[in-house]
Order: sequence, then C-alpha cells, then structure tokens
Amino acid sequence: MKIAAPKGTRDILPGEITAWQHVEQVFAEICGRFGYQEIRIPTFEQTGLFQRGVGNTTDIVQKEMYTFEDKGGRSMSLRPEGTAGVVRSFLENGMASWPSPVRLFYNITAFRYENVQKGRYREFHQFGCEAFGASGPAIDAELISLLQLYFQTLGLSRTSLHISSIGCPVCRESYLEVLKKFLQPHLDRLCTDCQERFVKNPMRIIDCKEAVCRGITRDAPAQLDHICSDCQRHFQGLCDNLDSLGLDYIIDRKIVRGLDYYTRTVFEFISENVGTQGTICGGGRYDGLVAAMGGPPTPGIGFALGVERLLMELAAQRVQLPQPAPPTVYLAVTGSMEQQAASLCFALRRAGVRAQTDLLDRSLKAQMKHAGKSGAQFVLVLGPDELAAGTTQLRSLLRENVTAVVRLADLPDLLCGLQDRPAAEQDKIIDDYASTSAI
Ligand code: HAM
Repeated sequence: MKIAAPKGTRDILPGEITAWQHVEQVFAEICGRFGYQEIRIPTFEQTGLFQRGVGNTTDIVQKEMYTFEDKGGRSMSLRPEGTAGVVRSFLENGMASWPSPVRLFYNITAFRYENVQKGRYREFHQFGCEAFGASGPAIDAELISLLQLYFQTLGLSRTSLHISSIGCPVCRESYLEVLKKFLQPHLDRLCTDCQERFVKNPMRIIDCKEAVCRGITRDAPAQLDHICSDCQRHFQGLCDNLDSLGLDYIIDRKIVRGLDYYTRTVFEFISENVGTQGTICGGGRYDGLVAAMGGPPTPGIGFALGVERLLMELAAQRVQLPQPAPPTVYLAVTGSMEQQAASLCFALRRAGVRAQTDLLDRSLKAQMKHAGKSGAQFVLVLGPDELAAGTTQLRSLLRENVTAVVRLADLPDLLCGLQDRPAAEQDKIIDDYASTSAI
C-alpha cells in the first residue's frame, strides 16, 4: 500500500512556514488591538452540537461532516467550523457573565468532506472572531474594520467587501412565503435535495450548487428586499458606521451563507484569485444562536477567514512575505575539533545566533559547499591552529572581501550584532571591529 496524504489535506512545509507564522502573528496582534482574546477549542465535538448550531439541513452538516462513533458509542464530528464550538464554550464557561461584549478570536483547522478544487480542501485553516453581547450595528462595523486593517497591514489590496442583511425570524417568515411562491412553479425541476429543502428550509435552495437550481434561483426574490423595519434600521446603521469609518462596501443581495445561524448582517470578502467560490472570508450576525443552544438570549456576530485562500490571495497580489531565516554563521571544522566546534556553536546559539556546524564528518571543501547551500551569511573555520591562537577568520559568504580576524571569545557578541542587519551595516560593524580589536 502506498501511503499518501489523504485527499484534500496538505503538508505545510518549512519553506512556507514563515509566511503562515507571519499571517498568524499579524492576525493575533490586530485582534489584540481590538480587544479580542484568543480561545482554543476542541477539534471534535458531539455531532449534535453542529446539528443544532450549524443547522441540520445545511450541506455542511448533511454531506460534509467527518462523523464517527467513538469507542463509547457516542457520535462525534470533526469541527467543520469554529462558531458552534465557541458558542458551546461561551455557555459552558459562564462567559455570559463576563463584561460585555465578550470578544474572542481563534486560529483553527476545520474539516469538510468537499469536492477538492482550487482553494477548497477537506482540512483547512480558519482565523475567526466572535463577539457576544452587543446588538447594535457598531460592532458589525468594528469587526469589518478589524478585517480591513488586517488586510491592509498584510499589504493586501483589491479585496471587495460585500454586505447584506438576511433579516430576523420575524421577517424571515414572510420572506419564505414570497420565496416559496417564486419557487413553486419550478418545484419539479429542482434537484431532489432542493425538493426536500422546499419543505424543510427553502432558504437553502438559493445555496444549492446544482446548475439547474442555480439557474432557477438566479432571479429569486432577495431577502434584503423583504426585511422588517427593525432589520432595515440595523442595516442602515451598519452602512452609516462603515461610511464614517471610511470603508468601501458593495451591497450584495446575492449573499447566501451556507450556515443556518445567521440573522441580519451577513458579509463576505471576495476576490477572483481564490477559486470558484472567490470567498476569502465570510461572517455575520447570529442573534438567536446562543439561546438556541440553551443559553440566555445573547446577540452575537463573527467571521471566519480561510487561511489557505488568504495566502493564495497574497501570492496573487505578489505581496512579499517573510522567508525562513538562514543561518547567520556556519562553523567549518578541521582536525578533529568537532567537540570544540560544538561547544562554540552552543555558545553562539545561547547568545541568540543562528549557528550551524558539521555533524557528518564532511571534508572542508564539502562543508564550504554545504555552508553556501544553507544560505549562511558568514563562515569561519575552527581547527587546531585557530584554537591555539584563540582567533579565526570570519568571512562573508555573500560579499567578497568582507572578512576580519576575530577572537573566539568575541564571536557571540559580534555575530549577535551582525545577525539580521542590512549588508551595509554588517560591513561597518566588521570594519569597526577590525580597526579596534588590535589583533
Ligand atoms: P464559512 O463561510 O463556511 O463560514 O467559512 C469561512 C471561510 O472559510 C470561507 O470564506 C473560506 O475562506 C474558508 N473555507 C470554507 N470552506 C473551505 C474549504 N473547504 N477549503 C478551504 N477554505 C474553506 C464559517 O465557517 C462561519 N463559522 C463563519 C462565521 C463565524 N460566522 C460567524 N462567525
């Protein structure tokens, strides 16, 4: 049997990891500025949580969950998203009594058994935020401004923000009547799933991926045109808040979120670079979810950002991301001085220097070749002569004639000072050392 990574999963290799770490760190930092605190939730939960939270009639729950029975006979599922788990944690940990609004952020893997294609995986990563306890539109705009600032800080431009409102349970009822009236004449042409949805949850028909259903729903009435006056006021408040923050947006009647918990505000950030769906990030308000999960009535709003799609977008927009840092110095060893080289290498590492030495008994020539390949900025040789003299020659591998004789005892401080400095500054530090060290 050939062992391979499961379809729809991927390894994140060392060459990519600094880009991942960068987007993670900037997200955590921006969240901190807005008062969001990190929460970590389990990878799997009781299946019932997602059935109630995400919605029993959604594709995510019906078709895409990785569900299994544990050894105790309980049905468990890998999380297909983060909101349901965060709401469960909010309730279980009594966060309803914390000062409001409770602002949380997360960085999770999520799992959906989907058709794999560009930007769509079976295991993927999401950065998300959830805020509980604020019902007015100001927090909707604040969350969106967090995302805008995040994209801007990363150097992303050209992602468009689409917003809409999908109303509340009150106006949803009358909208569903209008929607059903529109769909009724086409009922026998809808796919079998949608015929069932017509009875159980007609809103989900708009979300169907089947070509016939998409054709039929293209001109379907939009919820935004059928919201009640309270929802209308909330939506207008969101637009006013976004305007006063100077944030651009497109009012998009076609936004259909694939999860059942949304009320009022829904939004997405869209780009053509991230595959057929084009959605980098999606979110919205879920004012009924906490109560539906057995908690006190608590308004909530959040979003999740697909990290793979974010990185695709950054690459498409040619944003430079940090690369893995190469060693600052490579210690080449001669004359069986491996132990002494290992001690010096450890002393350098203790001082904070990225240092490498040979562990494979390579010839000096092979070590020099390896040092070059490793991307090391400086090299030095450590053999019996250097140890006897207490000095060695430090040489740049990137610039010719940048070299100095250095006391072994001075190496930790000197290399610490050279590390991660621009070339001109490094050259000056080495010149200054050479002229003042009196070797
Ligand atoms: P979602 O729209 O299902 O919302 O997912 C959010 C984002 O996750 C998407 O915009 C996309 O970037 C990414 N994503 C989703 N599925 C995949 C996949 N198969 N492969 C790669 N990326 C994917 C939610 O998950 C909600 N929990 C968001 C939310 C939080 N709403 C309120 N709070």
